[in-house]
Amino acid sequence: MVTPNGAPPASSSSSAAPATSPASSPAREYNFAAVVVGPPQAGKTTIVRGLVIEHLQRYPTGLALVHDPNRQFRDICQTWETADAWRAAIAAAAAKKAPFPAGASIGGAASDLTKVAIELGRARNTAGNVRIPILLAYDESSLMGTSGTSYIGELDTQLLSNRRHWGIGPVYNVQRPTALTEAFYSMATDVYILTQPSPRRTAVIEEYLGLPPDALAELVGAERFRYRHWQAGKGLV
Ligand SMILES: Nc1ncnc2c1ncn2[C@@H]1O[C@H](COP(=O)(O)OP(=O)(O)OP(=O)(O)O)[C@@H](O)[C@H]1O
Ligand SMILES: [Mg+2]
Repeated sequence: MVTPNGAPPASSSSSAAPATSPASSPAREYNFAAVVVGPPQAGKTTIVRGLVIEHLQRYPTGLALVHDPNRQFRDICQTWETADAWRAAIAAAAAKKAPFPAGASIGGAASDLTKVAIELGRARNTAGNVRIPILLAYDESSLMGTSGTSYIGELDTQLLSNRRHWGIGPVYNVQRPTALTEAFYSMATDVYILTQPSPRRTAVIEEYLGLPPDALAELVGAERFRYRHWQAGKGLV
C-alpha cells in the first residue's frame, strides 16, 4: 500500500510547497499536466515524488503510475516489472474486489505504460466524470528510447489532447527546457522550474510560458533545489 511517510521534502526554495490540481476532491473534473525542468541532481524527481504523494492523498480513488526504471519511488509505490504486469494485477484485484495499491512504480517501456493508462482512463473516465484521476509520471531518461529528439510521439500527442477526457494528468520530468516542444508547455497546468545553468535556458522557458524577459533570472546559477512554480492562469506563484 502507499506509505507517503519518509519522503524527502519537495523543495527548500522560496516558493510554497508544490500544489497539484486546482480541482477539488472528489474529482469530477481532473485537469492537471506538469513539466518539471532542471539540470542533473537539481531535485526533479523529488518534486515528482511530492506530486505523487499529494495526488494519492487528495484523490482517494486515484492512481499514480510512475515510469520508474531506476526505482526511485519504491518506498511510496508498489513496484511492477512492466505495464502488462501491473494491468494483470489490477484486473485480478478487481475480479476479487480486493484492495489495490494506488501508487505504482513501473518498469519496462514508457510507451507501454502510456498505453495502459490510456486504456484505463478511456474505460473509466470522461471529462466531467473522472472517477479515477490518474497521475502519470515520466522521467526524461525514460522517454528517450521511445519518442526521439522532441519526445513528441503519436501517443504523447493523443494524451495531451485527450487527457481531460481520460482523467490523466501527465508529468514530464526533463533536464533541458527544449527536451519538450512548446506544445507541452502550452498544455501544462503546472511547470516547476529548478535552478538553471544559463540565461539562455531561462529565456526559452520564459518564452514558452509567456513570461516577461528575466522573470526567471533569479534561477540562473541559483542554489541547488531552488525552484519556481508556474500555474496556468496565474503565472509564477
Ligand atoms: N529540496 C531538497 N532538499 C534537500 N535534498 C534534496 C531536495 N531535493 C532533492 N534532494 C536530494 O538531492 C538528490 C537529488 O535529487 P533528485 O533525485 O530529486 O534530483 P534529480 O534532478 O531528479 O536528479 P537526476 O538528474 O539525477 O535525475 C537526492 O538525494 C534528493 O534526496
Ligand atoms: Mg531524477
